[in-house]
Amino acid sequence: MTTHEPPPGPPVALGTWPTPVEPLPRLAAALGLGEADLVVKRDDLTGLGGGGNKVRKLEWTVGAALAEGADTLVTTGAPQSNHARLTAAAAARLGLRCTLVLPGAADSPPSGNLLLDGLLGARLVWSGARGRGELDAAASDVCTRLRERGARPALIPFGGSSALGARGYVRCGEELRRQVPDLDTVVVALGSGGTMAGLVAALGAERVLGVDTGALDDPVAAVRAFTPALAGGGATRAPLRVRRDQVGAGYGTLTGPVKAALTLAARTEGVVLDPTYTGRAMAGLIAAARDGSLRPGRRTVFLHTGGLPGLFGHKEAAAWAGTGVFPDRP
Ligand SMILES: Cc1ncc(COP(=O)(O)O)c(C=O)c1O
Repeated sequence: MTTHEPPPGPPVALGTWPTPVEPLPRLAAALGLGEADLVVKRDDLTGLGGGGNKVRKLEWTVGAALAEGADTLVTTGAPQSNHARLTAAAAARLGLRCTLVLPGAADSPPSGNLLLDGLLGARLVWSGARGRGELDAAASDVCTRLRERGARPALIPFGGSSALGARGYVRCGEELRRQVPDLDTVVVALGSGGTMAGLVAALGAERVLGVDTGALDDPVAAVRAFTPALAGGGATRAPLRVRRDQVGAGYGTLTGPVKAALTLAARTEGVVLDPTYTGRAMAGLIAAARDGSLRPGRRTVFLHTGGLPGLFGHKEAAAWAGTGVFPDRP
């Protein structure tokens, strides 16, 4: 099995950089902040395959796969994985094959990210796996079988997160330093950890607030595992700022604060979030504004990491919409 840790090949160009930064004055006012206190970094607009944070990581991990001569990208994720969808898009862009190894049994009809996975030409392997260990083992088996058939598979890590993939977010942190020189705090969804790790390496632990999405049992350990290998990350001894109060009943569940965050962002700014990642990050930002951890007069950046297809593949969100909770405004 091929793993992708430094030393890397050169990154491959997949996205559109830099992503824009836009003001959020109406949302800021609704949260009791000054109108200029809140901006959004639009990493949902990274270009490839519907966009999202995973494109920055894939530039590095797929760059390494190409340097090794891979002809097939293999990766794992939840059925509605944005990372899996964007790995399929990267493969299509580069003329590679792609196999996505997913847990459990086929979700039908395919919706959201799964619909796009098929459209992008990925082969889906429903592995029956019930946990991360089983899923990793299934992906390893798939790579072995591909190799036996003469293919050259490269295994891209779960969530795209490795010290190598996190380099994409060191670059995002550097972009942010130029775009928002007075940045006080950037708020980001914390899943497999690579996004936060890169930002911490670039900006310092004190300026990054991660909102746990419940994807991992110990997300802090995941972030800590990636930072030492990153430029600037070796010096990071400061405690990580992580909120774990938005997980609710678990990864992917639709919580009350997430519903409120989705609704507020959509209605104040026309910004659409997803229920699993960015909705949780925004719920964490709202909680932080309420408890005083984000203060008026300081500049907060909300990192929009994409994930919109997940909204259309989320059964609880569809049921919520069906309950008539979205009346016309008077
Ligand atoms: C839309 C979206 N935002 C945020 C994240 C979290 O990023 P990371 O896995 O690097 O912690 C993910 C991960 O799957 C994601 O799909």
